[in-house]
Amino acid sequence: MSKGLFITFEGIDGCGKSTQLNLLKEEFTKQGIEFIEVREPGGTRVGEKIRTILLDRKNDSMTRMAELLLFEAARAQITEEVIIPALEKGVNVICDRFYDSTTAYQGYANKMGRDLTDFLNLKATNETYPDITLLLDIDPETACRRRSERGEADRIEALGLAYQEAVREGYLELAKSEERIKVLDADRTPEAIYEEIHNLIWDLIS
Ligand SMILES: Nc1ncnc2c1ncn2[C@@H]1O[C@H](COP(=O)(O)OP(=O)(O)OP(=O)(O)O)[C@@H](O)[C@H]1O
Ligand SMILES: [Mg+2]
Repeated sequence: MSKGLFITFEGIDGCGKSTQLNLLKEEFTKQGIEFIEVREPGGTRVGEKIRTILLDRKNDSMTRMAELLLFEAARAQITEEVIIPALEKGVNVICDRFYDSTTAYQGYANKMGRDLTDFLNLKATNETYPDITLLLDIDPETACRRRSERGEADRIEALGLAYQEAVREGYLELAKSEERIKVLDADRTPEAIYEEIHNLIWDLIS
């Protein structure tokens, strides 16, 4: 049996990850292609508890190192408990954020450095690499406008436009050296973006 495809969606807050992921799920479901969806951080009993701590605005005294290690703890749990077993059974895994988020947010925007985040990412995932990563690239103002239509910002979203711009730059820098990361212009209609995603993924599964 061949292994499942490991597909991840990345990009700044409000870039359209969930929208595109839902379109892919719909198409997989229609075509009877087996998949599971996992959410980072979270997706396991332990991980969901960690997610609550990370997104709670009351936890603004959290240090950067504590935040980084919590993300990696949730990732270690979901990789071993959910992602690796699914891929080995031939089930595709669709993930809303994975370790590239840590590289972009903690490694670049929080200036903790790629040496540290690369090392922790590899250890937490036991070197489980996505087969393809869809990076939805958009300017933070456009993403912010979309987001504000949805109500309150969470702790990370509340950090502001300059921060989102630093995250965006981090993602783009990372994409330069990773063939698996596909940079998509996310300032288009959902349908236009999805057409590109469909073509990239069907190239891999056929
Ligand atoms: N291509 C698009 N054009 C216009 N609006 C869009 C597009 N894609 C998504 N939106 C809208 O923008 C908002 C953010 O989209 P979405 O929730 O998919 O982003 P996200 O990356 O998952 O955000 P978050 O990081 O907060 O989870 C939603 O209100 C969504 O309906
Ligand atoms: Mg989302």
